[in-house]
Amino acid sequence: MRRHVERAALATALTLFPTFAARAADPERGLEVAERWCDSCHVIHQRDPGWHSGNVAPRFSMLTKVSPEAFKTLMRGGHGGIDAIKTLPEADYEDMLAHIARLKPEEQ
Ligand code: HEC
Repeated sequence: MRRHVERAALATALTLFPTFAARAADPERGLEVAERWCDSCHVIHQRDPGWHSGNVAPRFSMLTKVSPEAFKTLMRGGHGGIDAIKTLPEADYEDMLAHIARLKPEEQ
């Protein structure tokens, strides 16, 4: 009975706080998400040789200090004028953060 209650409590906690559920962020997957949604404006790789004038936004390697909270708030706010970005699942944000975190910080 007690175990039962504990299980129910855990299930509730995981529903209310899905980020507590054990899931390792996947930087490779994050890169794929970024290729789809961010690549048109941002340089998403380290010193990307494919830099082009359409990259109007800061390189991802300049964004390594952006906090996860600020990042998610920015995305949820509908960044870049692309509606789909604000409805991406939390896991997509976390995977993109993992990709950004593995870049060597660059100033410009
Ligand atoms: C239509 C162009 C465009 C797209 C697409 C775009 N961005 Fe941006 N992004 C910008 C511009 C321009 C800036 C710099 C000005 C600003 O902060 O809004 C920026 C800034 C940022 C910043 C820094 C904000 C800060 O507070 O310093 C982050 C983080 C970011 N983008 C992440 C992303 C991610 C992740 C994606 C893809 C899911 C994305 N962007 C897609 C144009 C874009």
